[in-house]
Amino acid sequence: MSQFFSYLLILSFFFFINSLGTNSTPLCQSHYCGSVIIRYPFWVHNESASDQLYCGYKGFGVMCKNDEAVLELSGDRYYVKDINYADYTLTLVNIDVSNQMCPRARHSVSLETLPLKYSSMDLNLIFYFNCTSDPPITVPYIRCLNINGRNRSYVFVENHEMEGFDWSKNCEETVVVAVTQSQINEGNLTGGFGAAMNDGFVLDWERVKDCGTCESSEGYCGYNATAEEFLCFCNDGSTHSNSCKASNCYGFYCGFNASFGNAFRLSNVGFDGPPTVYTAGLVTVRGIVYYIKWPTFIRQ
Ligand SMILES: *[C@@H]1O[C@H](CO)[C@@H](O)[C@H](O)[C@H]1NC(C)=O
Ligand SMILES: *[C@@H]1O[C@H](CO)[C@@H](O)[C@H](O)[C@H]1NC(C)=O
Ligand SMILES: *[C@@H]1O[C@H](CO)[C@@H](O)[C@H](O)[C@H]1NC(C)=O
Ligand SMILES: *[C@@H]1O[C@H](CO)[C@@H](O)[C@H](O)[C@H]1NC(C)=O
Ligand SMILES: *[C@@H]1O[C@H](CO)[C@@H](O)[C@H](O)[C@H]1NC(C)=O
Ligand SMILES: *[C@@H]1O[C@H](CO)[C@@H](O)[C@H](O)[C@H]1NC(C)=O
Repeated sequence: MSQFFSYLLILSFFFFINSLGTNSTPLCQSHYCGSVIIRYPFWVHNESASDQLYCGYKGFGVMCKNDEAVLELSGDRYYVKDINYADYTLTLVNIDVSNQMCPRARHSVSLETLPLKYSSMDLNLIFYFNCTSDPPITVPYIRCLNINGRNRSYVFVENHEMEGFDWSKNCEETVVVAVTQSQINEGNLTGGFGAAMNDGFVLDWERVKDCGTCESSEGYCGYNATAEEFLCFCNDGSTHSNSCKASNCYGFYCGFNASFGNAFRLSNVGFDGPPTVYTAGLVTVRGIVYYIKWPTFIRQ
């Protein structure tokens, strides 16, 4: 019988996992921020709350400030102009350049390890700021940034720089920014880069590998920042560590069938009604059925 009790221990472990389920689906609801819908895998990031628990991808928390959706990528803030859930794309505008006709790009965008990549709709502009010497042939420079002094700044489509001049050595700073190709007229970059930057750039997002099991079980991946662990929010309101299907939870009924070597087969394990009343059918290889009624069991 001691072997039997060790199975009971395993059982109680499964029940413990299952009973962690709480009603968490409101976390996965969609919200409007201005005209942008924020829904999974994005989530509403409330700066005043500490976001200990959220339904969505890490780093995909969108702040909603005065009806403007704002995303932070490695410390820099971007307006979220649009999220296209059918195409898995989002359009961002750097807040620092917004509404400026002659913006001075400060940083190259860093996507870090987030499941984001530049869309094929984008191209990169490369800026060389405060060049102390000028290229031997005349190249149009950014007049609106050349306010007082002779240091010039230049912009090119990346890899289309005039060759035979060491730009990064002759200029104080190099910054690369993405814009959408359709906004670029390469013949008038120095006049048009500001409008293109205000139009933003497009990122594609990808599924997070660790969320695959959860999402394919129709769950929503989330994160518990306190415990630093992934969560899977299921449609029935329960929360699991990995997948919505593993434990066969339907409503308040949680159950599973399992086989432990050739000693026992567990069938119809579950609880229904008050969570203190657990029942399980234990079938031995000889076909004897035990029904477990927590915490005792009876033989039938
Ligand atoms: C953000 O969190 C704070 C503190 O929990 C709360 O008072 C406030 O209503 C929340 N704001 C939004 C927009 O949910
Ligand atoms: C060029 O350098 C000066 C002095 O450091 C600075 O004030 C100015 O903003 C710089 N211009 C650009 C376009 O970076
Ligand atoms: C020109 O650029 C250099 C750095 O490349 C900077 O030290 C200097 O202050 C700049 N001069 C002006 C007038 O902006
Ligand atoms: C370049 O673009 C600017 C801003 O759109 C415009 O004012 C200017 O006339 C254009 N220049 C040329 C040569 O097309
Ligand atoms: C999140 O983690 C904390 C700390 O481990 C735990 O107390 C809490 O119950 C967890 N929340 C969920 C929904 O798993
Ligand atoms: C377990 O197996 C029994 C018998 O095959 C079946 O009736 C029951 O629905 C199964 N339970 C679960 C939770 O899959």
